[in-house]
Amino acid sequence: MTLSLAQMRRNYTRAGLPDDLTCDDPQALFHEWIAQASETENAPFEANSMALATVDSQGRPHCRILLLKGLSEEGFIFYTHYLSDKGEELAGNPYAAMTFFWPGLERQVRIEGRVTQLDPQDSDDYFASRPLASRLGAWASPQSQALASREELELRMVDTRERFASQEPPRPPHWGGYCLHPQRLEFWQGRPDRLHDRLDYRLHDGVWVRNRLAP
Ligand SMILES: Cc1cc2nc3c(=O)[nH]c(=O)nc-3n(C[C@H](O)[C@H](O)[C@H](O)COP(=O)(O)O)c2cc1C
Repeated sequence: MTLSLAQMRRNYTRAGLPDDLTCDDPQALFHEWIAQASETENAPFEANSMALATVDSQGRPHCRILLLKGLSEEGFIFYTHYLSDKGEELAGNPYAAMTFFWPGLERQVRIEGRVTQLDPQDSDDYFASRPLASRLGAWASPQSQALASREELELRMVDTRERFASQEPPRPPHWGGYCLHPQRLEFWQGRPDRLHDRLDYRLHDGVWVRNRLAP
């Protein structure tokens, strides 16, 4: 059976990125866009969800959705299992790419750069702010490992609840944050007739150089 999606098309008309846009700091522009996306996008869509691509030791890319949990001077922060597939991939090759898509605003942002593990204290602070079940889940789930059944996962959670019945679960050593330090950001705004706007920022010797790219 084949499926054709060739007739699915729409025209993008909401906004534009003018040539005289006075923003030399792409992180400030990202801040503005994600704030607008959080106000505009409809629940249950999460404006902070993004696709994160990493590359394994054989040069093969892997991509999955994650939640952005912070934006600092250094970059874009997310949390995960350090021994997951993505954790192993980042240990071998620290370069990654993130893509955000905000359909309500007809916008995409692509971010590329080098990823480092967060300072353990920052991971501890974020972990402590999570709901108890999420903290227990970080202990119970060996992310990306094969499980014999759903029951195995649920039994692991029961064991974890017992283990931490009388104490707060600390952050597991295998779980924490990463920061993607951006070297490139591209802002895409859908425009009519496929003549979309693309603004590309690249870091050269510590200075952001901006170019308009053809759509
Ligand atoms: C909306 C959404 C949000 C997610 N957020 C996270 C997250 O913040 N951290 C995380 O480790 N996995 C998150 N996941 C699960 C990942 O997509 C993925 O299944 C998991 O991290 C394992 O990936 P890996 O095996 O490539 O390491 C999310 C999935 C969805 C659909």
